[in-house]
Amino acid sequence: MRRPLVVGNWKMNGTRRSSVELAEAIAENFVSESVDCAICPPAVFLAELGAALAESGVCLAAQDVSRFESGAYTGDVSAAMLADFSCAYVLVGHSERRACFGEASALVAAKFVTAQGKGLIPILCVGETLAERQDGKTLEVIAEQLDAVIDAAGLEALSSAVVAYEPVWAIGTGEVASPAQAQEILAFIRARLGENAEAVRLLYGGSVNAKNAAQLFEQQDIDGALVGGASLQAEQFLTICRLAEA
Ligand code: PGA
Repeated sequence: MRRPLVVGNWKMNGTRRSSVELAEAIAENFVSESVDCAICPPAVFLAELGAALAESGVCLAAQDVSRFESGAYTGDVSAAMLADFSCAYVLVGHSERRACFGEASALVAAKFVTAQGKGLIPILCVGETLAERQDGKTLEVIAEQLDAVIDAAGLEALSSAVVAYEPVWAIGTGEVASPAQAQEILAFIRARLGENAEAVRLLYGGSVNAKNAAQLFEQQDIDGALVGGASLQAEQFLTICRLAEA
């Protein structure tokens, strides 16, 4: 049995104060013993939120990580630093990093390896754009994004990671993939993960909310969600966590 995982990606939102309030509202009301839950605040809030989440069962996670271990890399945050602040997970290859910051699959793979090397669980994000879907290239794009990491890290490394399928056309648009569309791609991803594939947690992300989550979670290969906009509202995010209970 794979343990469900719900991850909130706050992106570049909030203030120091609103972040603590949101984290406290989630921490105080999160009760599930059968679902893992994590939130990814902006990096500057990690320290304070670590304290707000302590002993709540809600894990801390990061939105990004440097590919480098340490040194003269102005602006970057290392995997060791994230581990030092008790981050359990880190997103790598989010489509906004790929699109807005030019991160190619080779860089994403390097970040994956660096993160895992410091004991963080990478959440590898993959997904196609609308144009790629319309061109019939969805599976090709997903395979390329996945294979870059498999080549760099080895298939074995994927078995202790998480993979999130996030179609770019569904992120922040309100246009969620249908449960069948998400299931089709996640089954394709699982089939590429080798002999430990059944143990790997696969998430869907892209306009997940409290209304559409239940149907998504019914799908065989959807083990949870990566939630953006809806994770900024404690009540809605907690509802999604409850819906993920096995
Ligand atoms: P969204 O974002 O839920 O706001 O669509 C998801 C994500 O980017 O991870």
